Amino acid sequence: MVSARPAVQSLPAYRPGRNPADLARELGVARAVKLASNEVAFPPLPAVVEALATAAAETNRYPDNGAVVLTEALAGRFGVDPAQVVPGCGAVMLCQQLAQSFSDPGTTIAFAWRSFEMYPLLAQVAGARPVQAPLVPGRPGGPANTHDLDALAAAVDASTRLVFVCNPNNPTGTAVRRPELERFLDAVPADTLVVLDEAYREFVTDPDVPDGIELMRGRPNVAVLRTFSKAWGLAGLRVGYLVAEDPAVADAVRRTHVPFSVSMLAQAAAVAALDSEDEVRRRVAAVVAERDRLGAALRDRGFDVPDSQANFVWLPTGERTAELAAALEARGVITRPFPGEGIRVTVGAPDEDDVLLAALDDVAATTTAATPGG
Ligand SMILES: Cc1ncc(COP(=O)(O)O)c(C=O)c1O
Repeated sequence: MVSARPAVQSLPAYRPGRNPADLARELGVARAVKLASNEVAFPPLPAVVEALATAAAETNRYPDNGAVVLTEALAGRFGVDPAQVVPGCGAVMLCQQLAQSFSDPGTTIAFAWRSFEMYPLLAQVAGARPVQAPLVPGRPGGPANTHDLDALAAAVDASTRLVFVCNPNNPTGTAVRRPELERFLDAVPADTLVVLDEAYREFVTDPDVPDGIELMRGRPNVAVLRTFSKAWGLAGLRVGYLVAEDPAVADAVRRTHVPFSVSMLAQAAAVAALDSEDEVRRRVAAVVAERDRLGAALRDRGFDVPDSQANFVWLPTGERTAELAAALEARGVITRPFPGEGIRVTVGAPDEDDVLLAALDDVAATTTAATPGG
């Protein structure tokens, strides 16, 4: 009998998320809402739809493996050399490429926990040991939801090749500020690569949260990850990018690129999206306004929601998490529970968020599951 590597056998099996149309049918209700995957609720940008239609006519050919047009557009946008930019099949595949390019057996990858759930799995598959620095309360006495960058710096040793700092952090939405991030970057040894994962950067409104690409300049061991999946509305197309201060870092990531994995459609859509930046900014502003409304409505209901700099909010529901998420799902609202810890809720369109708020009120009126905290 064949057997997979032990590191692969111990990975959790893939569990697909619920589909809102299936859930609505199952519950016999007109509508279910999905607030689970941090997508934006807007339809694709008109220029993207047009670019896709044009590119579709050429899909008998392979895409440009170097994604030259997109790479140059990104380089121009950030004022860097194209040699510093690497597009990828979603930021998640760039995380995987980073893990593969920089890990050897016996090395470690450090990150905060809880954070983006793929970090430990990617480390494991790459043969590296994941090292986690627990989140700490963002305010005295509050729930743990914020990076402890001093602890993360202390977790870095000679075996650490890679550190991920997810800013804003998925799933808590909290962000670290410039002085602490600069102090952290100063503390990390020059032969450890720090990856600032800024998948949600476009939603940041706090001026004290630094732009990683600015912070990166002059620091050859820093790289930044961004994605077109969130603010730019291209989650279904799979395209993200890495910007590295040192072109040698970008070159190493390019070497583990799966050939042609950024499709022709993804490349064309990303270029068209960049050309629609004004519309994207308007959409982001609407998401941010709705984030504030939703956060306030949840706090009014007693949830200790931290300030979110992303397009989702975090409900620290502790031991009640699984029960509350199930109660919401029974009312047609799909969220992302982390059992024993909390629920991540994507900021949806206002009418979708109203369905969530009504469901929470109904749960509170009929069960004990909506009791905040846990
Ligand atoms: C922190 C973070 N990084 C990276 C990703 C990957 O994004 P994508 O692969 O869709 O570009 C996500 C997606 O949810 C994320 O939350």
